[in-house]
Amino acid sequence: MRVTLQPSGAVLELVPGERILEGARRLGYECPQACRNGVCHVCVALLVEGRVQQNGEVLDHGEFYTCIAEPLEDCIVLWDGVLAPGELPLRKLACQLSECVEVGGDVWRVRLLAPAGKAVRYHAGQYLMIERDNGEKKSAFSLASAPHAGRELELHVLVREDSARDLLEQLQRDRMARVELPFGDTHLAELPDGPLVLIAAGTGMAQMHSLIEHCRASGFKHPVHLYWGVRRPEDFYEIEHWDQWRQLPNLFLHKVVSDLCGWEGRCGLLHEAVCEDITDLTAVHVYASGSPAMIYGTLDALVEAGMDAHQMRADVFAYAPRP
Ligand code: FES
Repeated sequence: MRVTLQPSGAVLELVPGERILEGARRLGYECPQACRNGVCHVCVALLVEGRVQQNGEVLDHGEFYTCIAEPLEDCIVLWDGVLAPGELPLRKLACQLSECVEVGGDVWRVRLLAPAGKAVRYHAGQYLMIERDNGEKKSAFSLASAPHAGRELELHVLVREDSARDLLEQLQRDRMARVELPFGDTHLAELPDGPLVLIAAGTGMAQMHSLIEHCRASGFKHPVHLYWGVRRPEDFYEIEHWDQWRQLPNLFLHKVVSDLCGWEGRCGLLHEAVCEDITDLTAVHVYASGSPAMIYGTLDALVEAGMDAHQMRADVFAYAPRP
C-alpha cells in the first residue's frame, strides 16, 4: 500500500495492516506524534485521495489521525511537519557577526555566531539563506563550517558585484545577520564507504571546506581528493587549515588554474585534472560545486570517462535542472 505524503511527495510503502504513523516511523521518518492512540490530535493529517480506516470507520476525505488510521488503498495525504530520514528541520536564527576578514581573491571569510542555547543542526555540505536589508530578498551561501563547529557558522563571500558589496556593508554595519538553515541535499549526512572526489570552482570551495572538515572530525579513512579551480592564480584565497590539511595522509589537494598556463601549478579544466589522476572512476563519490555550465560540463566529461551519473552530487542539479 502506497501513501504519498504532501507537500514533500515522499512515498511510504506500508505493509498490510500497518498504520500510517507506524509505517512512517519504521521507514525512518520523524513525525509529529504524542499519544499514538487517537487522543491528542498531534499526528493529524488531511486525506486528499484514497480511503483509510480509523476506529472501524471508513473515511474518504477530511482530517484523520495517522496513529490509528490504516490505508485501505493507495492514498495521498497532506501531513505537515514530517521529516524524511536525515532531513533536519528549518530554523531561523539571529546570529552575531564574529569575524569578517578579506582572505584574498576578493573573497571575505565571514563567521557568524548562532545564539547560545538554540540547536544549530545541519549536515556538512548544506547551505543557509541570509536575509537582506529589505527583509524580502535572501542570499544563499554554502556553509564552510562543519556541524562539529557548533554555534560558529563560516561563509566565503566573493565580493565583486554590487549585491555582494551591499551585503558585506550590511553585515559590517549591523554586526548581526538573520539566517535560515539548513538547505540542500548535497551533503554528507552519512559518510560513504569509498573514496571522495571533491570538485570546487572559486568559492564553491566553501562547500568542500565543510565536507573536508567533517571528514577530518569523523576520522574518515578513505582517500579524499580535492580539486579546486580558479581562473587566475591570484583568485585562490586563504584557507585557514590548508597547512594542516596537507599533513593528512588520505587528503590530496590539487589547485588548478583555467585561464593562465605557465604558473607553477596545474593548468586546464577541473575535470581534465580529475581524469588525468583517477583512471578508474567506478568507485568514487563525487561532490561538485560551481556554476551550472561548469557542473554539467564536468558531469558529461566524467560520465564519458566511466563514472555513473548517479555517483555525482551537486546543488545545481536541484536549483538549475537540465531540461
Ligand atoms: S499521536 Fe495523538 S492522536 Fe495520534
